[in-house]
Amino acid sequence: MNPSLAVSAHHIRHHFGEFAALNDVSFEVERGQTMALLGHNGAGKSTLIKIMLGLIKPTSGEVTVLDKNLFNLTNRADLKIGYLPENVSFYDKLTGKEILNYFAALKGVKSVRVKQLLQEFGLEYAQDRALKTYSKGMKQRLGFAQAILSEPELLLLDEPTVGLDPVASKFLYGKITELKQQGCGVIVCTHELSLIENNIDIGLILAKGKALATGSLAQLRLASGLKTRLTSPQLKQVMAIQPKLAALYRDDALLLDEQAKPEVLKLLTQECQVYDFSLQQPALAEIYHFYMGQCAQVEGVS
Ligand SMILES: Nc1ncnc2c1ncn2[C@@H]1O[C@H](COP(=O)(O)OP(=O)(O)OP(=O)(O)O)[C@@H](O)[C@H]1O
Ligand SMILES: [Mg+2]
Repeated sequence: MNPSLAVSAHHIRHHFGEFAALNDVSFEVERGQTMALLGHNGAGKSTLIKIMLGLIKPTSGEVTVLDKNLFNLTNRADLKIGYLPENVSFYDKLTGKEILNYFAALKGVKSVRVKQLLQEFGLEYAQDRALKTYSKGMKQRLGFAQAILSEPELLLLDEPTVGLDPVASKFLYGKITELKQQGCGVIVCTHELSLIENNIDIGLILAKGKALATGSLAQLRLASGLKTRLTSPQLKQVMAIQPKLAALYRDDALLLDEQAKPEVLKLLTQECQVYDFSLQQPALAEIYHFYMGQCAQVEGVS
């Protein structure tokens, strides 16, 4: 067992009756790392999160969460896991403050932390109002405050930014960074790829219950073979004097793979004196679409 791991999952399969929701999924998340769990609707993301919470026992495979095998534990409540479900729903006649105080009492957290979180999450003004009067984003903020109430060692967030305004989303990822720095492992399931792109260490892309790819953004990019675009106002002149770059030139840009990059940059800067250029690496969304496209070709995923 590796004590630096927040989650270790090996060969997870899960069937709902005849239907295989997860099919041989393996991954590891270190403490202090954030993993994005990506995939189409019905890919198996929420099922995987529920397995890590111990709410669903996988049909087969091994899951270790914070160094414990969840399904051998007598008291899972002792594990410091924070969870934001995909549909936040609390008893809606209670006020925001009452809801957080209720969870604080369950988790042995002092009420001063509730006060602090209500303030930080911009909910202080509505703390004495019943939840049924909250907007979607306000409920989402309260759900996230509940998830981090007890300073978790593992945080599982199922679509945390749905309904949040851009400032609140930024705040949420700021909070995640703080928790990571304290050694919390974070798993975020989301469809908002551009938002999560700069906030993750690793990604796991699921389709039809199978892991299509896993690794850091750089590893996913490299494995996809997608090219970096180099653009420059001087590129047209350069093409005239460096015909060997012509094969890489398309749509006013040079399309570079990782291996070609150092040589082309050397050529441009040293021989052609081009210093005014920009490099645009494939975004997470492009990488995601690439893998989904590949999977669709093989298996007919829409
Ligand atoms: N309790 C259940 N009984 C039967 N099938 C289920 C159950 N829960 C999930 N499934 C099925 O398992 C598959 C994976 O569902 P899951 O909720 O994990 O998807 P998801 O990746 O979270 O999708 P979304 O992006 O829409 O939230 C789906 O086909 C779903 O219909
Ligand atoms: Mg889901």
